[in-house]
Amino acid sequence: MAGVAALAQLPVDQANATPRTAGGNYPFTLGVASGDPTSTGVVLWTRLVPDLFVPGGGMPPTKVPIEWQIALDEGFRRIIRTGTTWALPELAHSVHVEVDGLAPDREWFYRFKYRSDVSPIGRTRTAPVRTGRHAEVKFAFASCQEWSSGYYSALRHMANEDLDLVLHLGDYVYEGGIPADGGYRKTPVPAVLQQAPRDVDRWRMQYALYKSDPDLQKAHARFPWMVTWDDHEVQNDYANNQSQYEGDITALRAAAYQAWYEHQPVRRPARPVGEGPRIYRRLQWGDLAQFDVVDGRQYRSIPPCGWGEADACEVGTTRRSRCSARPRRSGCTTA
Ligand SMILES: [Fe+2]
Repeated sequence: MAGVAALAQLPVDQANATPRTAGGNYPFTLGVASGDPTSTGVVLWTRLVPDLFVPGGGMPPTKVPIEWQIALDEGFRRIIRTGTTWALPELAHSVHVEVDGLAPDREWFYRFKYRSDVSPIGRTRTAPVRTGRHAEVKFAFASCQEWSSGYYSALRHMANEDLDLVLHLGDYVYEGGIPADGGYRKTPVPAVLQQAPRDVDRWRMQYALYKSDPDLQKAHARFPWMVTWDDHEVQNDYANNQSQYEGDITALRAAAYQAWYEHQPVRRPARPVGEGPRIYRRLQWGDLAQFDVVDGRQYRSIPPCGWGEADACEVGTTRRSRCSARPRRSGCTTA
């Protein structure tokens, strides 16, 4: 999909959009998130990253314990589940707690603790049961949020809505280097961000930059999200492991998928191990809605008549016949 920054609407709020770099050891700099709700549970997410733009995020290369709590009330007077989970260095000290056994169709509050630091409080909710009778479901969708194309005012407005769920349809991050002046944000960024991500450390920094935005954090902390990806989480218009610019991008894709998993509130099948990541899935919302989330990129064939927004195939032609006539045309260089 083309890089249209649908969420990047003014007004500008400069003070609200400066990426936080190293400053103290506070580890919850990317906020919290929840996702993939069922009628009995939800995924709780955070990542420990005291220093956003260094390899390792400023954490030691060892696993560390994180405590989590989920409560009926925002004041945490009625805590109903707690636990401790490991934040692993091979997952950039991210955690994905799959809470189950919750009551359906109500809101919950959650937070994390690492040493003496406590995370921001997140709010989430469980889906209604399928047999129930429900009058409405309220959800919003987001997509195409290139950081350097503007501020996330639309996400701030979203966070102030009364929603059950947010669907993110992809292009959560973009694959390019960040302009030194932050592009339309006019917010200087560290030099390490100016080169495009190629390895997993740099991809993690891309997510850290995006997720440092306070409006994005607020929207995550307010609702459960259901996230899929599009092309820019790896490269413009890529298909499976093929790029129109450089052919095989298996290694780039693997690094990008790894960082995606580490920064999204998704369940275990989305972790890129073995046959994974598997991110296509289904969410049932009572008897009102069934959300079938697709993975439109990982399994895609090379487009037969040209990459991207190429014209549709001419009737009666194939890529082979078109490319033999015009070998240099778009889509013909990668067999
Ligand atoms: Fe897009």
